[in-house]
Amino acid sequence: MFALTDADLGLKILGCGDGPASFNAEATRRGATVISCDPIYRFDADHIRGRIAITYEQILEQTRQNIDDFVWDSIGSVDELGRIRMAAMQDFLDDYEPGKAQGRYIEGELPTLPFADSSFGLALCSHLLFLYSSHLGEAFHRAAILQLCRIAREVRIFPLLALGAQRSPFVDPMVEELRGGKGFHAFIETVPYEFYRGANQMMRITRQV
Ligand SMILES: C[S@@+](CC[C@H](N)C(=O)[O-])C[C@H]1O[C@@H](n2cnc3c(N)ncnc32)[C@H](O)[C@@H]1O
Repeated sequence: MFALTDADLGLKILGCGDGPASFNAEATRRGATVISCDPIYRFDADHIRGRIAITYEQILEQTRQNIDDFVWDSIGSVDELGRIRMAAMQDFLDDYEPGKAQGRYIEGELPTLPFADSSFGLALCSHLLFLYSSHLGEAFHRAAILQLCRIAREVRIFPLLALGAQRSPFVDPMVEELRGGKGFHAFIETVPYEFYRGANQMMRITRQV
């Protein structure tokens, strides 16, 4: 999703809106320094496990009903997708309480995050910004992206499609705005990952020096 290199994994990384994803657990095992923030981290592991159990079948059923919207090359079937997703969420759940005690899972909610300026080398945000464009609105996106730029020297957001599979209407104006008076480089890049058909681009934002 983010075309991460080994050098990227050497940076202090924020995963914003990581939810029940296993990125923090996996990257930590590889020696990376990752902090995840999400409003759901106000809950304990049992509560999040319960939420996963409720939504798991619904998500797989939605996938079955829209099967042609996905690229089934690295994952061969909906059942295999279910096994992979559940294993990843179990990895998250096993890591969550010890990780919280270590300060790796922090309750936080865009557009205001509880971190100091430039406290991360890289901030990653997947399946939140741009995806929920119509729910969150343009002003929220602007504030959220500027907030991520405040706390990290580089920001990457994936994907750029909104629900309904159209490119979010906020992507191009945001790139223009960031490049304009705000003093950032902003690029759209194609990445190697494509599971939802057409969702294979990220926005990369760095500061102009
Ligand atoms: C669809 S999930 C994506 C999880 C993960 N990033 C992934 O790609 O699998 C969206 C996540 O964003 C979180 N979220 C919702 N509103 C948020 C906000 N204002 N700031 C940060 N995270 C938020 C939700 O709790 C949820 O965990």
